[in-house]
Amino acid sequence: MKIDILSIFPEMFTGVLESSILKKASDKGAVEYNVTDFRDFASNKHKTVDDYPYGGGAGMVLKAQPIFDAVESLTASNKSLKPRVVLMCPQGERYTQKKAEELAKEEHLIFICGHYEGYDERIREHIVTDEISIGDYVLTGGELASMVIVDSVVRLLPDVLGKVESHEQDSFSTGLLEHPHYTRPSDFRGIKVPDVLLSGNHANIEKWRSKEMLRRTWERRPDLLESFSLTKEQEEWLKEFKKQDERY
Ligand code: ADE
Repeated sequence: MKIDILSIFPEMFTGVLESSILKKASDKGAVEYNVTDFRDFASNKHKTVDDYPYGGGAGMVLKAQPIFDAVESLTASNKSLKPRVVLMCPQGERYTQKKAEELAKEEHLIFICGHYEGYDERIREHIVTDEISIGDYVLTGGELASMVIVDSVVRLLPDVLGKVESHEQDSFSTGLLEHPHYTRPSDFRGIKVPDVLLSGNHANIEKWRSKEMLRRTWERRPDLLESFSLTKEQEEWLKEFKKQDERY
């Protein structure tokens, strides 16, 4: 996969793209990152990339020209490849694991990161394929948001995570949150690991884990269960949790 990022603060990306799994992924050739300072594409002599809004009002607006030219320069060498062009903004669709899985299937992603009150609407209308928000809060710019997306997409690419870090059991990919985890010692300051995990009985361990995944999801994110089809056994477990909860 090729990932292009357009930002006037390219230095923000170095630590993130050059550490840990994101670095390993590019070392292995699974992904190629390229951060472009779109100020280099500003056509005016002061290299400004923003301007006052037509109609007046507070804040500056990111100009269409540097973004159009920067995106066109990234696609010029192969016009048949149609990249996904993602605009980072708080008004975009809310980011989810499902969207990460969808983006991970693409060959080329371009992220546009702005620091402005707004983007010239023609960028949205003619260049952008997706507008994404990482949550209902406002950041100073799209850079951190794009890094969140790059991180969550790259870890899904084939052969990026080893078996140990596998993403198949991730919270959200299964539709449920993960079950609790424990490691040695089995008794830490008198706080014990559940007996079943020490029993060596794999069937019982799997059943305990499935039940705790459901419990955790029900306790913390009941909204996830609205679109989840429960097995008979899970329905029984839910009844049991509700019985144990005095609110029910
Ligand atoms: N830019 C500013 N705030 C943002 C958000 N919440 N998500 C994506 N991009 C943003």
